[in-house]
Amino acid sequence: MKRIQCVVMGYGDRGSRYAEYAKTVPNELEIVGAVDVSDLRLQSAKTKFGLSDAQLYHSLDEFLAADVRCDVVINATMDSLHYATTIPLLERGYNVLLEKPVTASAKELLEIEAKAKACGCKVVVCHVLRYTPFYAKIKELIDSGKLGKVTNMQLNEHVWQGHFVNAYVRGKWRSEKECGSGLILAKCCHDTDLMCWLNNATNPYMVASFGSKSFFTKENAPTGAAEYCYACPCKNECMYNAEKFQIEKDFIPFYTWAGLNKPLDTITLEEKREFLKTDVYGQCVFKTDMDIVDRQCVTVEFENGSISTLNLVGGTSKAGRHIHVLCEYGEIVGYIEENKIIVREFNKEQVDYDEYLIDFNQDLSQEDNSVGGHYGGDYYIMKDLVRFLNGEATSVATTVISDSINSHLICYAAEKARKEHVVVDLKKEYGR
Ligand SMILES: NC(=O)c1ccc[n+]([C@@H]2O[C@H](COP(=O)([O-])OP(=O)(O)OC[C@H]3O[C@@H](n4cnc5c(N)ncnc54)[C@H](O)[C@@H]3O)[C@@H](O)[C@H]2O)c1
Repeated sequence: MKRIQCVVMGYGDRGSRYAEYAKTVPNELEIVGAVDVSDLRLQSAKTKFGLSDAQLYHSLDEFLAADVRCDVVINATMDSLHYATTIPLLERGYNVLLEKPVTASAKELLEIEAKAKACGCKVVVCHVLRYTPFYAKIKELIDSGKLGKVTNMQLNEHVWQGHFVNAYVRGKWRSEKECGSGLILAKCCHDTDLMCWLNNATNPYMVASFGSKSFFTKENAPTGAAEYCYACPCKNECMYNAEKFQIEKDFIPFYTWAGLNKPLDTITLEEKREFLKTDVYGQCVFKTDMDIVDRQCVTVEFENGSISTLNLVGGTSKAGRHIHVLCEYGEIVGYIEENKIIVREFNKEQVDYDEYLIDFNQDLSQEDNSVGGHYGGDYYIMKDLVRFLNGEATSVATTVISDSINSHLICYAAEKARKEHVVVDLKKEYGR
């Protein structure tokens, strides 16, 4: 098998995690360049992979002008840049591992699909959950047919408050206007992907949705609360007090301190305190410019009559991604945080059911968790990518861009349904 040569565009949180595969399995992947507008991030890639200055590119144009030969470009720039950066890469013949969400626009999504086809390039979307042993096993069980067809799928995504506040209330995904993606697309195109991929004997058809921002609102701020926590008379009683939440607990520091543009281990306590006096990470959680929802449910009807529901709740006490698949002759249920699933199969003779547990915890080696996270998903997507580009057999998870279309259309339709209080027919709305 050939060692895959890879350039990382957007060497931030996600880009650096995927690139880590080259350190874990160096005979399979080599990082031969990095493209980023941030010199700090380029220097970090240079040190990590021993790149020369000539292998660092400060913009996509600079990279394209250098006419670098490589097998794949990882596009891990932020959501709103995916379309504008992927199209030129495809036009120049590069295969792309593209972070999700692909884009927030149906027109752009279909254009990327068409461009990949026209240019003969592969675009693999980072639906990393598919690659976990947990969801791969559920897929295998459904595809085996022994439980019959899927009749109903219930998915829940409870976003723990440390994650929700850092990414969606104070963080860079808090504003659809700025980031391009609403919450359902940014957080749950994974879940809409799972509901389509696991049930791909059929296609989604109708979409309904409700949701709102009803907790992180100005009205819910404690009486007398200040704009910034450092000056707030309520800070000692408030769980979200930035001094406690961002400095003491330091949840997801890579997000919080990115604005300081310094290596994390060089930032002093004084610098952090000063930063929080004016940055959104120091702002009252009830008063930020967050323009996305903090709860949403989505219901999807499929052409064969099966129905899926998704409940997304932001700011919960505990993280929880849950799935319950009901089939004609049994069911599958599991919480990915526990990394275990329970399978129940009808026992026709006894007019009862048999139940068994599958535990993935012992299967995940240290290596699987060494690349990013997502219960092994970040590692397995890279492992599959290397095989895919070598023309070798991959797991059932690896697919081309066309298999990511439905998940995104459901998210766009859900936003339309929620905002306009309508039910959306995917074919009529998007012609697919
Ligand atoms: N697959 C998942 O589960 C998952 C999880 C989190 C985030 N994401 C997605 O991954 C993507 C990246 O998120 P992140 O948290 O790593 O962001 P990040 O901000 O940490 O990284 C983005 C990088 O892109 C660089 N950049 C900005 N403009 C650029 C340009 N024009 N050309 C090249 N580089 C540029 C930035 O300097 C930064 O280093 C987003 O689309 C996000 O939604 C996916």
